[in-house]
Amino acid sequence: MALLAGVFWKIEILLQAIITNFLNSYICVTMVLENNIILKVPGSFMSLYANNSDDLSYLMLNASEMGCSDYIVQLSEPKIFITAFEKVVHMGNVRRSDRKIVMLPTINENLVSVNSKEKLLNVLSMKETSFIANVLLILPSDSHSECEIYDLITHKFVGPGEDSNEPVYLDKWNSCTSKFDKNVNLFPYDMSNLYGKVVKVAAFTYKPYVLLDIDTNITPRGRDGVDMRIVEEFCRWINCTIEVVRDDEHEWGEIYNNSTGVGVIGNVFEDRADLGITALYSWYEEYVALDFSSPFLRTAVTCLAPSPRLLASWEMPLLPFSPYMWIGLILTFIYASFALMIAKGFVMDSVFLTTFGIMVTQSQSESGLSSWRIRSVVGWMLITGLVLDNAYGGGLASTFTLPKYEPSIDTIQDVVDRKLTWSATHDAWTFSLKLSQEPLIKNLITLFRTNSAEELKRRSFTRDMAFGIEKLPADNFAIGEYITKEATLDLMIMLEEFYVEQAVVMMRKSSMYTNKINKLIGRLHESGLLLAWETQVSLQYLDYEVQLEVRFSRSKADVENIEPLALRHVQGIFILYAIGIVLSFLIFLMENFVYTRKAKKLQQNLSTSMTA
Ligand SMILES: *[C@@H]1O[C@H](CO)[C@@H](O)[C@H](O)[C@H]1NC(C)=O
Ligand SMILES: *[C@@H]1O[C@H](CO)[C@@H](O)[C@H](O)[C@H]1NC(C)=O
Ligand SMILES: *[C@@H]1O[C@H](CO)[C@@H](O)[C@H](O)[C@H]1NC(C)=O
Repeated sequence: MALLAGVFWKIEILLQAIITNFLNSYICVTMVLENNIILKVPGSFMSLYANNSDDLSYLMLNASEMGCSDYIVQLSEPKIFITAFEKVVHMGNVRRSDRKIVMLPTINENLVSVNSKEKLLNVLSMKETSFIANVLLILPSDSHSECEIYDLITHKFVGPGEDSNEPVYLDKWNSCTSKFDKNVNLFPYDMSNLYGKVVKVAAFTYKPYVLLDIDTNITPRGRDGVDMRIVEEFCRWINCTIEVVRDDEHEWGEIYNNSTGVGVIGNVFEDRADLGITALYSWYEEYVALDFSSPFLRTAVTCLAPSPRLLASWEMPLLPFSPYMWIGLILTFIYASFALMIAKGFVMDSVFLTTFGIMVTQSQSESGLSSWRIRSVVGWMLITGLVLDNAYGGGLASTFTLPKYEPSIDTIQDVVDRKLTWSATHDAWTFSLKLSQEPLIKNLITLFRTNSAEELKRRSFTRDMAFGIEKLPADNFAIGEYITKEATLDLMIMLEEFYVEQAVVMMRKSSMYTNKINKLIGRLHESGLLLAWETQVSLQYLDYEVQLEVRFSRSKADVENIEPLALRHVQGIFILYAIGIVLSFLIFLMENFVYTRKAKKLQQNLSTSMTA
């Protein structure tokens, strides 16, 4: 490599022109060079070289993480760079939508090698290159002249066809004049017009985010939804065409350890789709592998839990007093009986019956109150009985007029305490909670089960399961189709939210669409369109009755709260009464039986002794 210090190759002048005109707004440029090229330009550079893609990607990763994410490349095997670049994009944490790559031919003995040109053009046909908007190739021109002439080539990035690997001629640079021929923008793809480029969007039907397979009489394209409207608007803005990529079976899907994936997330991760939508939230595990747009919707996840039932009516007579009060009452009874017994001079005769009678305010016969000592004790007991009896009566009246319910399920703690399973069709519902260290949340995750939609529909009537739903910003709910209106009558929305999430659009790392879609989402927030869309979609496609039932599920009970006394209320008392009657009747029969036998025996004994 013959390099005379101070002598520039002509190509260096061209490179300097490109850097000053097009790359100067960036923090730092990475140079991957085989030859020593001297650049006299302001700005920072990082120079590195390796001759295989593993080593190169390792070096480039360091540079990229430091912000040097535009590249000037001059390698005899330029494909190595593209492979390394792809690795860096996936390994690194720095994301940039508009990375730029300039590729130069190699120079040997002051001559541009000929097969270098072919190798550079081959780069355009690599799949990895199709994900980079701005790739500039500097190729030696075929035209013979005194001066060195370079063609400036990029790929056909826009347009509807599958021909993005076709080279596109941009301009020409002549070393004698040091001038460009046409002075065009050498990095023309700023994503403002894609001329009908096909953008693949991974989605599945999940109301109200995405609806597919709608009757085309209702919506011409047969698809709708809040997320869908965002990408439709995106494509109206930058002139692209949407192609929906589906993996309905796996819904949200996931990324496996072996770098494959399924569902929406897998389709985006494996580049079968450019954009992923449908209620994708800012999950950490996905963030590591994919690009997120700015959030466009805030959702709160909670559950529809079985609503509390009316308490069984036989419990009602017990309700006016708390358990401690009942214990107090029994102690009072024992204590009062004891006092009466002492007052009577340690005579047990009908003490308990008298005390019980007094406590339920029964009058006492004159005969029992033989002395003033007994009278004063009984007098105080009568007052106590009066107070207790009135308190009980008041309590009983209120339990009869206000229906009493089981305790309701309002918080995460309630769900965990009762070991109530909560369920949905996919475990994406727990992605946001996975990394939590809180014991309560960990317990909550263990209670989650996935079930098929049919199973969920069946279980929505069995009162042994809660169902995940989402509360959306414009006051609508995302509820699975499996929750029917009939089921909602017996379900109630919980008070506490399990978690709050931000919905995003997912893309491949450093996707060229990220910047542009962020701008669009900013505009949508600004205009309030997102809230309007959510309301429109909800009114048009969601079951309005289910929405209303869920929204008012907590206030339903208030309406039917005060009601006249019905048989239902006193049923319990009658049950107790009936049990009492049956018991006393049985005891009566038994006594009768026992005593008649005794009497007979006695008679027999008597008659035998008489005859003897
Ligand atoms: C990458 O950077 C880290 C720290 O910033 C440094 O320790 C490491 O040696 C670098 N690796 C290479 C190959 O330069
Ligand atoms: C959008 O793309 C189509 C298809 O390539 C093209 O004909 C049309 O002119 C483009 N529209 C705009 C506004 O550039
Ligand atoms: C990757 O792993 C998943 C699940 O672990 C498996 O289903 C799939 O077949 C694997 N794919 C490949 C290509 O090994």
